[in-house]
Amino acid sequence: MPTPLLSRRARPLTGTLRIPGDKSISHRSLIFGGLSVGETTIEGLLEGEDILATAGAMRAFGCEVERGKDGRWHVHGRGVSGLDEPADVIDCGNAGTGARLLMGVAAQQPITTIFTGDGSLRRRPMGRVMTPLSQMGVRFATRQGGRLPGAVIGPETLIPIEYTLPMASAQVKSAILLAGLGAAGHTTVIEPKPTRDHTETMLRHFGADVRVEDMPGGGRRITLVGQPELTGRKVVVPADPSSAAFPAVAALLVEGSEITLPGVGTNPLRFGLFETLIEMGADITLTNRRTEAGEPVADLIIRHGPLRGIEVPPERAPTMIDEYPILAVAASVAEGTTVMRGLEELRVKESDRLGAMAQGLTACGVRVDVDGDDLTVRGASNGVAGRTTIPVDLDHRIAMSFLVLGMVSEEFVAIDDAAAIATSFPGFADLMNGAGAAIAPATDVAA
Ligand code: S3P
Repeated sequence: MPTPLLSRRARPLTGTLRIPGDKSISHRSLIFGGLSVGETTIEGLLEGEDILATAGAMRAFGCEVERGKDGRWHVHGRGVSGLDEPADVIDCGNAGTGARLLMGVAAQQPITTIFTGDGSLRRRPMGRVMTPLSQMGVRFATRQGGRLPGAVIGPETLIPIEYTLPMASAQVKSAILLAGLGAAGHTTVIEPKPTRDHTETMLRHFGADVRVEDMPGGGRRITLVGQPELTGRKVVVPADPSSAAFPAVAALLVEGSEITLPGVGTNPLRFGLFETLIEMGADITLTNRRTEAGEPVADLIIRHGPLRGIEVPPERAPTMIDEYPILAVAASVAEGTTVMRGLEELRVKESDRLGAMAQGLTACGVRVDVDGDDLTVRGASNGVAGRTTIPVDLDHRIAMSFLVLGMVSEEFVAIDDAAAIATSFPGFADLMNGAGAAIAPATDVAA
C-alpha cells in the first residue's frame, strides 16, 4: 500500500537536527568490514533500507554483522576473497550503490552470486560495471541491457586491469577496486573527473596500499596493490551531506528559519551543493570543523535569506550529483534563472531525475526547460502554486525535494508514495515536523 504524504506551508524551521549517517560511507564500512580480518566497529551507521540490504548481503557472504544495544554495529569479516557463496539471491532493494559495489565483492572469488532489487534498481544499467569486470575475467548472466536480476560468476584467477572511466561514477570506480582486491598485481582506475573518494580513503584505513596521483587536466589515477590483508577498524560515519541538503534548503527557503546540523561531512567531493548555495547568496556557516576517521566534518548553521539564480558549471556535477533535485527546488524560488549543465548521469539514478524534476516543477507552476542534459529553472518571484501530487517512482530524493517545495508553496505539494524515503532518511517527516514543517498523510487531498 503506498503512503501518500503532503507538505504545506511551514512555520519557521528552528532547532538542532540530527541527520542520519552518510549512505556512501555506511555501505563501504559494512563491505570493508566484511573483507577484513577481525572486528570492525561502526558508529553512526545509517540504518536506512539501502544499508540494511547491504548488511544482509554481507551476512549472506558469511560475515557476522550485528547491531549492538548501544547503536554501534559490529562486523566480523572473512578477509579478502574469504567469502562464502551466498545460498540465495541477494536483494539489494533500491540501492544502486549496494548492488554495484557488491558486484565487485562477488567478483573476487570463484563463486556465483545472483543479485536483484526493487523495480527501480531492476531498470538501472549494470553494464557500466560489467564491462570492466569482464575484462578482469568475470562472467555475467543478466536480463537484456545488463539489467538485474543477474548472476556474477567470479573467475578462478582475476586479471588486474587499467581502466579509464567513461562516465563520472564512484560506484564503477569502487566496483573495480573491490574486485581488484582479489587480483594479484596492480589494478588502476583513471577518472577524468574526480568522484567521491570514500573507497580510496577507507581502503587505506583498513590497511590496503592505494596510491592516488593527480593528472594534468584535473583527473586522477588510482592504483591498488591487490591481495592485501585488510584488518578490522573503527569507523565513525559522518552525517550525510546529501541528506542534510533537504533540511538545509528548507531552512534557506522558509522565512524566519535558523537551524543547526551537527557533524555533517564536508568532503569537497561531496560538498558541491553547499558551495553552489553559498554562491547563490545563502547564509550558511561552517563551525567546529574537524576530521573524524579520515573524513572532514563540520556543524552547519543555516539561516533563511534570499537566493539568486546562477549558472552551475558541469565540472561540479560529480560533487553534487545527488543534490540537483533539491537545488532545482531552491532555484524555483530564487530570484532570476538557474542553469544546471551536464546532468546526463541524472537520467540513470533511482529514477530519471532530470525528467522527474522538469515534470514535477512544471506541475507545481514553475517555469522549467530541459535542453539536452541541461536544466534551466526560472525562479518564481510571485511564489510557487503547488496543489498537485507528484509521482515519486521509487525515488527518495524526488520525494523529499517536493515535500520541501510544499513548505513554501501557496498550496500543498503531495507525493504519491513516501515509502522510498526510508532508503536513505528514515524519520525524515518527523524530524522536519519537529522543526516546524507541516508534512501529513495525504488521505484528505483529492489529487
Ligand atoms: C555513490 C555514487 C554516486 C551517487 C550515489 C552514491 C557512491 O553514484 O549518486 O548515491 O556511494 O559511490 P554514481 O557512481 O552512479 O555517480
